[in-house]
Amino acid sequence: MDLTQEILALKRSRNAVILAHNYQVGEIQDVADFVGDSLGLAYQAKATAADVIVFCGVHFMAETAKIVNPGKIVVLPDADAGCSLEASCPAPQLEAYLTANAAKNYYVIAYINCSGAVKALSDVICTSGNAVKIVNQAPAERPILFVPDANLGAWVMEQTGRKMDLWQGSCYVHVEFTRDSINRIKAEYPAALVVAHPECTLAVRLLADEVCSTEKMIGYCRDAPVKDIIVVTESGMLHRLRKECPDKNLIAGPTERCACADCRYMKLNTLQKLRDCLADLQPRVEMDEVLRAQAERPLLRMLEQSLSPVL
Ligand code: 13P
Ligand code: SF4
Repeated sequence: MDLTQEILALKRSRNAVILAHNYQVGEIQDVADFVGDSLGLAYQAKATAADVIVFCGVHFMAETAKIVNPGKIVVLPDADAGCSLEASCPAPQLEAYLTANAAKNYYVIAYINCSGAVKALSDVICTSGNAVKIVNQAPAERPILFVPDANLGAWVMEQTGRKMDLWQGSCYVHVEFTRDSINRIKAEYPAALVVAHPECTLAVRLLADEVCSTEKMIGYCRDAPVKDIIVVTESGMLHRLRKECPDKNLIAGPTERCACADCRYMKLNTLQKLRDCLADLQPRVEMDEVLRAQAERPLLRMLEQSLSPVL
């Protein structure tokens, strides 16, 4: 039996569902039940009837699945799959900041790329796919603190016109794209459109024809009136896009150092580790129940507000 067949057999015997983020290697995406962005996968995790959730992504994503599914076993192929955004906002530091600024009575909006402990300190969560919608539903009378991604936060301010105080975190992958690296690839493909993730810097976002979450990139590329599209995000996205939009020429946005950008955390997961975590039901995501319940409130608020007709 090859690895993929073994994974499918184990999945059936465990009554498991395999959720994979758009940045996973192609062979993991191809064996998954659902592939998507953070928002789509959060909905899938909430809705599943499976006993075991195998989350092929990074730790905060698997933890999010556990927060909304305390009774289920949640495993991820590599427990070291972290995220630079999560690391840039330690919960004790956020708590100290909120205590020092208690008089401001901040409404805290946390990008889902953060720890469960940071979620527990927040009023509502957002993803890149719904951040504009979530900010538009924030109470008008309260100042907003947006954590941890300053680039996504700045883009949301541009989109909504709502002022926010921004935590100064960033994604180490998306800040590697520069104005020069994108201008160089644009010069090679003068007819191409550019789609970029909102975690990119302002200099790069200004060169993009569209800025959106990984899932929205699919509709954008499918409907684009041109063949060449430069995709400025993590390299795994190209596999998904090439499957969904076979008639398009999808070009990886380069950084100064590389022809494309890999997230070293996303790429820790392999097909072999996926097989092993299904066989061993390890490594598991476990959470203190009090913390989990505190983190669940803002997450459920996000899932509800995300369905609201507010734009
Ligand atoms: P999406 O929610 O757009 O998939 O983004 C997740 C992420 O980690 C981007 O770096
Ligand atoms: Fe985190 Fe950036 Fe990797 Fe996304 S690409 S998981 S934001 S480090």
